[in-house]
Amino acid sequence: MITKKNATITAVGGYVPDTILTNKMLESKVNTSDEWITSRTGIKERRILNDVNLATSDMAAFAVKNLLQESGIDPKSIDCVILATSTPDHILAPTAPLICEKAGLINAWGFDLNAACSGFLYALSVGASFIESNRYKRIIVIGADQMSAIVNYEDRDTCVLFGDGAGAVLLESSTDENGLIDNIFKVDGKGNAFLSVPAGGSLFPASALTIEHKKHFIQQDGRTVFKSAILGMTSTCIEIMERNALKTEDIDWIIPHQANLRIIEAVSNNLNFPMNKVKVNIEKYGNTTAATIPLCMWDFKKDFKEGDNLLVTAFGAGFTYGSTFLKWGKQHTQKL
Ligand code: ACO
Repeated sequence: MITKKNATITAVGGYVPDTILTNKMLESKVNTSDEWITSRTGIKERRILNDVNLATSDMAAFAVKNLLQESGIDPKSIDCVILATSTPDHILAPTAPLICEKAGLINAWGFDLNAACSGFLYALSVGASFIESNRYKRIIVIGADQMSAIVNYEDRDTCVLFGDGAGAVLLESSTDENGLIDNIFKVDGKGNAFLSVPAGGSLFPASALTIEHKKHFIQQDGRTVFKSAILGMTSTCIEIMERNALKTEDIDWIIPHQANLRIIEAVSNNLNFPMNKVKVNIEKYGNTTAATIPLCMWDFKKDFKEGDNLLVTAFGAGFTYGSTFLKWGKQHTQKL
């Protein structure tokens, strides 16, 4: 008889740079105020990778090392690394091999996946499929972004929102009922018009003109993104709850992508789900794109008990969006 294996998160690591950029500091760069940013977004400060010699791969490797150190897992036992990012070190070559190199994962292969703020959830699902197929035993899924590399610090519409960071989780198989249970993922290509870095890719390769017009920075129609995020996260949460016969009281925690506290509160309100069971750390880190969800898992892992029902939901550029239902698994600790 074939026993179904679930892919379970068994360890979590994270990294944020030491340099803090507060709302007050942004007041001296653009026409904004701590009061406006706090009340409109919930963000108080964000972390910035302030070293020209470091990039996304370094933050990701620090997060992986943190995971390995805290869990006691042998780096040689890692089979594969999946990196979700929108800010790879280079357009070519991929960043995952650099992470394997920097974190000493000498037996791992790996690749990058870009689905913007939804990237971590998409990557988690791909990693889970590898584990469920029995082809690999240990996969590290990372969400990492150096948003400061693509943010225009003269544009108040965007520069107040984003920060840098990386989070990593270990996926292993489990024969108990814990692990990733279900995903609902969607895309809407019309969203491309409302949120993108227009230049530097194959449509508008880098040129003096694209730089002059600041097309290498993130640009957005904030209101459209705001409304679409609430709709997309709410609808996929409802769909996955219905498909798994979950009532709100069955869910122990919601981990939402951290883009704007008002988006998170609106989703919680739409689901009639209490905010004290919604994990929020946006005030410390801002929007770290693919890193927000694993950084939340890292920050709050002590609150999660084995078997807890977690609803994880994300929305991002593309548009990409979706929700994942998982049961929290037994975590490795050094003492094991
Ligand atoms: N400081 C002060 N005033 C500002 C700032 C700022 N940083 N930014 C905009 N304003 C002004 C606007 O110019 C406008 O002024 P006006 O009324 O004189 O025209 C006023 O504030 C209100 O602007 P709105 O755009 O209506 O403000 P809103 O409440 O929508 O907040 C925000 C803007 C924070 C960008 C919001 O729309 C948002 O969070 N959108 C989602 C964007 C997002 O998260 N993108 C990230 C990637 S996608 C994702 O992660 C989901």
